[in-house]
Amino acid sequence: MYNRHTMATTKFNPTYRPFKTTHHAIMGAIDHYRCDHMPRFSGCGAQAGFLVNNARPNCAREYGIKLFPTASQAFAAYQRQMIAAEAGAAPPVRRMVKVLVRSPWYGDDLRTIYYGYQTCLAYGIGRMEVPMEVEECDDASLIPDSGVRRLYRLLSRLSIAGTQIDGKPIGTVRRRSKRMKHDLHEENLGFWRKRPVCIDFGHHIIREAC
Ligand SMILES: Nc1ncnc2c1ncn2[C@@H]1O[C@H](COP(=O)(O)OP(=O)(O)O)[C@@H](O)[C@H]1O
Ligand SMILES: [Mg+2]
Repeated sequence: MYNRHTMATTKFNPTYRPFKTTHHAIMGAIDHYRCDHMPRFSGCGAQAGFLVNNARPNCAREYGIKLFPTASQAFAAYQRQMIAAEAGAAPPVRRMVKVLVRSPWYGDDLRTIYYGYQTCLAYGIGRMEVPMEVEECDDASLIPDSGVRRLYRLLSRLSIAGTQIDGKPIGTVRRRSKRMKHDLHEENLGFWRKRPVCIDFGHHIIREAC
């Protein structure tokens, strides 16, 4: 019998819901969120904070929220992940977001603003790696796993010329590409639709400070 409670038919029920959507000339549609207290990040690495947002892994219609300290870092990572996702090397991205965290006592006087974007969730993170010597020798053939080897080669080939420069005002674009192959450690690799993908498109992937 048809069971409307099975996984496939359960609707996405996000933890965070935008209160408005605006349009930015360069960044496109931006979903705005408001929080009355600091959200608890589920994954928090060096650069980004991650909110699962009740999204299920490997589900194209559900998305988590990745947050960065500045708009330019967020938009640069968003554009890189978009390019990678279109090539099958990353989970899909949705919109840019802006999150306003208000202090319950001080209203708008004390607030933190994050920028970020919505991304689908990969699964099986932490199970694959690109060995250290691969980056040192820039030799993909040293990667034993064929799926990871394919991913490394794919990411190395993609051009990010014309995308936002991390740490520069919005609209400042890089004229030359840089290779997206420098941060492929196990915590940044997962699966999307059974294929290895990269989930972290912060500035480390192009070996840049910001
Ligand atoms: N697309 C995703 N799917 C599932 N988990 C994710 C995704 N993106 C980020 N995460 C989780 O959030 C953590 C931090 O995100 P990441 O982009 O790696 O930021 P950082 O640059 O801070 O390492 C990851 O290690 C992972 O646990
Ligand atoms: Mg990471």
